[in-house]
Amino acid sequence: MSYNGVIERYREYLPVTENTPIVTLKEGNTPLINAAHLSKLMGGDFQVYLKYEGLNPTGSFKDRGMTVAISKACEDKATAVICASTGNTSASAAAYAAKSNLKCIVLIPKGAIALGKLSQALAHGALILAVDGNFDAALDLVREITQKYPVTLVNSLNPYRIEGQKTASFEICDCLGTAPDFQVMPVGNAGNITAYWKGYKEYNAKGKITKLPKMLGFQAEGAAPIVRGHPVKNPKTIASAICIGNPASWKRAEQARDESGGLIDMVSDAEILQAYKLLAAKEGIFVEPASAASVAGLLKLAKNNYFIKHQTSNIKQPIRIVCILTGHGLKDPDRAIKTIKPPKVVKANMKAVLKEIGY
Ligand code: F0G
Repeated sequence: MSYNGVIERYREYLPVTENTPIVTLKEGNTPLINAAHLSKLMGGDFQVYLKYEGLNPTGSFKDRGMTVAISKACEDKATAVICASTGNTSASAAAYAAKSNLKCIVLIPKGAIALGKLSQALAHGALILAVDGNFDAALDLVREITQKYPVTLVNSLNPYRIEGQKTASFEICDCLGTAPDFQVMPVGNAGNITAYWKGYKEYNAKGKITKLPKMLGFQAEGAAPIVRGHPVKNPKTIASAICIGNPASWKRAEQARDESGGLIDMVSDAEILQAYKLLAAKEGIFVEPASAASVAGLLKLAKNNYFIKHQTSNIKQPIRIVCILTGHGLKDPDRAIKTIKPPKVVKANMKAVLKEIGY
């Protein structure tokens, strides 16, 4: 059977009708990968899975929400869309707007988004404005513009974005045949944790699953407003995607945390980079730094025996933990080059090359 994107697959759960023109790049259907090395590191009967959202058409999970937001914008006869972004939302909005012939405007924090993401928005022909300020300032501007002018907001404040993004939790449940025990994910503007939790609750209400996972969110230490309990004025982290000081969906993230009996904690840039390298070197998965925050969080909690202490099921079966890997490593190639040893230069002769290989 051919695959036609998340709207077609999960239509009954989404706010679309036969009048909605579906704009899709066949997003979703991303693999849930068994992480053997990480599972072993957990030191018990654990099965860790990685939901590799970097394999979406524009390289991040944003495409799931964008297909719904842009389809609905077209249904509503919009002519232009706008977003503030740390990079991935702008890449996704630009691609889906290009596909549907909508004008796309993106506001990015000047000098603070990864090269791959900027190149995508440029290539798809968006009007890109680099704001001399951070993401939070850009989002404030965009909110005000959309209240006054006929342009559709496609940040996750747009409820259609959340609707689309919740399909990732459906996929996880469909793949496992049950909900996981724990889900670990990065938190930035907090739309994604809101979306996953909504998805799990809807599947539970429909009887597709019979338990709910504990939601474990991780912010970067220098950009951890929810953990600290107040907005962070000048957020700082190498994980530029989640460098956010005042998340739009703050309250809903706390609701997901509290209703599920989970937590929102933080990890340092050093822990993020360690997880980033481990994922690439031991699991064969290249992610951008923000995505590695989930695995950094997993390792932090494992070290504190969190999973053993919070195991809910008595049934003898491995505890299932899903880590969400939100964006592809190629989004931020500079980070790999800065973090990992550069290639060694050798003379262009056989002897020199063989010597380096060790033959
Ligand atoms: N991971 C990546 C790779 C992201 O790009 C983002 C958010 C997050 C995690 C956090 O998700 O905001 O729903 O809590 N990126 C947004 C953007 C802010 O503009 O691309 P969230």
